[in-house]
Formats: sequence, structure tokens, C-alpha cells
Amino acid sequence: MPHRPDFRELYGPWALVTGASSGIGEALARELAARRVSVALVARREARLARLAVELRRDHGVEARAITADLADPRALEAVLDDTRELPVGLLLANAGFGDKGPFVARPRDELARMIDVNCRATTLLCHAFAGRLLARGRGGIMITSSTAAFQGTPLSAVYAATKAFDLLLAEGLHHELAPHGIDVVALCPGGTDTEGPARTGVDPAKVPMGLMNPRDVARAGLDALGREAIVVPGAHNKLSVFATRALPRGVASQLAGRMIRRVTGE
Ligand SMILES: NC(=O)c1ccc[n+]([C@@H]2O[C@H](COP(=O)([O-])OP(=O)(O)OC[C@H]3O[C@@H](n4cnc5c(N)ncnc54)[C@H](OP(=O)(O)O)[C@@H]3O)[C@@H](O)[C@H]2O)c1
Repeated sequence: MPHRPDFRELYGPWALVTGASSGIGEALARELAARRVSVALVARREARLARLAVELRRDHGVEARAITADLADPRALEAVLDDTRELPVGLLLANAGFGDKGPFVARPRDELARMIDVNCRATTLLCHAFAGRLLARGRGGIMITSSTAAFQGTPLSAVYAATKAFDLLLAEGLHHELAPHGIDVVALCPGGTDTEGPARTGVDPAKVPMGLMNPRDVARAGLDALGREAIVVPGAHNKLSVFATRALPRGVASQLAGRMIRRVTGE
């Protein structure tokens, strides 16, 4: 789908992208810069953000600012909100997140708590702050990166799937609440995507039936859905699988999801 020539007018001049140091967030930042939107890049890995900011300034002539923050830390989140108060942000991409795979009781408590803090708490508070700012501007957009994991309970990844279901419903609710005020909200629900994420959780790409999507295609699908849809699932095979999941009894869909996790991780 060709992107709208007025993208910058609708959602610029600045966007805030969380999780911009790699994967889908990095691809979102590149795609925004190509659409002439300046970017504030948030993640923990300072050097990567700084390198990306230099590249985007050089290649696209936009402004780019690196903001190092651990979004699991409530004080760091407040600092991000303070640092960006004066920036004319028209678009929030709440993309930072991570998952895990393995038996629930074997997961470290701290890791589960951090996952909820990053995937749900930080996402909610960022949306709360930026929705207020966008309402004051009278236009803008918010994208929340959810997942196809959001559509069913998932054995061996139960907490991650639950955080992504939270993200999906948050975006869907805000879509309908904020649309009358000129704010476009979309839930981006990628399936397996070729980033550091799957490798970190023990996924063997060779065992993923339809392969992993390119993060650039995922990023474009998300940005192009703004103002058009409440939920976007990139890739025909992912759309089909979500459609099938919704048609199946919930228990069957959940068991199939667990079987898929075992297959791709060898659990
Ligand atoms: N890849 C997939 O198959 C897939 C499928 C569905 C949904 N998703 C979702 O897509 C989003 C992006 O993931 P990805 O696949 O692109 O993986 P990724 O390459 O690992 O990117 C995750 C990003 O989140 C940032 N992040 C993680 N914890 C953070 C924290 N505590 N504070 C600040 N930033 C943090 C990471 O930066 P630092 O490490 O530098 O902090 C990184 O920039 C996630 O929400 C994920 O759930 C991915």
C-alpha cells in the first residue's frame, strides 16, 4: 500500500519510538525518517541509539534524538516524559517489549514482573501522557505493538501472550475512544518476525512453518494502517492464522499455539 504523501502533516513533525535500538522499532524509526518525520529514539542500549540517530540525520535530513531509558524503571519512564515535553510529537509508537518461552513456574519472578512493567505498565503510561498531548494538538497517532500471540492463551508463553492481549485491547479501546478527537490508534500484531526477539527466546527460525517476516515490511504495514484500521496483522499467512484462531473453539486454538511453541523451540 503506498503511504500517504501527507504522512508528516498528519503525524509529524516528531515521533517517539520505544524499542528503537533493534528489530521492529529500528525499522519503524527508519521508515519514519524516510517519511520525513523526526524521531526520538528510546531504549536501553545507548550506543545503538546514538548510531541510528547519526545515520537518520545524515541519510534523511531529519532531526533524531537518542533517549536512553529502562522502561521497566518508573523513574526512567518519568524522565522520558519530562525530556519530551517540549517536543512537537505527533506520533507515539509504543513498541518496546519482550517475551519468553518455557514452563511458567520455571520463569524467574523478576523477569515476569519486568515483562509486565515494560509491555503493559510503560505502554499504558506512555499512551496516557501522549494521548493528552495529542488531544491538546487536535491530531496525531498512537501505535502499540501487540502480537498474533494476543489472540489466544499460549501454553509455555502464557505471561507474554497475556501482556500482548492487554496491548491489543488497550489499542482497540483507545482507537474508538480517540477517533472522534482526530487521534488515530492502531494495534500492530506481528507474527514471527526476524529480529533479536525470537532468537533470544530460543526459536529456531528453520522450524517456523511460514518463516519469519522482514521487520521493514512489518513496520510499513503498521504505519500504513494508521487512520485506516484498529488492528493490523502484517502478512497474508499471519492474517489467515488469526482468522483461523478466531474461528476455532478457544481451547483448540490455545492447544495449537502451545504445540507451535514446542515445535519452534524444541521444548
Ligand atoms: N519478533 C517477533 O517475532 C515479534 C512478534 C510479535 C510481536 N513482537 C513485538 O515487537 C516488539 C519489538 O520486538 P522485536 O521483535 O523488534 O525485538 P527486539 O529486536 O528484541 O527489540 C525489542 C526492543 O525493545 C527494547 N526494550 C526491551 N526491554 C526494554 C526496556 N526495559 N526498556 C527500554 N526498552 C526496552 C529493546 O531495546 P534495549 O534492549 O536496547 O533496551 C529493543 O529496542 C515487542 O513489543 C515484541 O513483543 C515481536
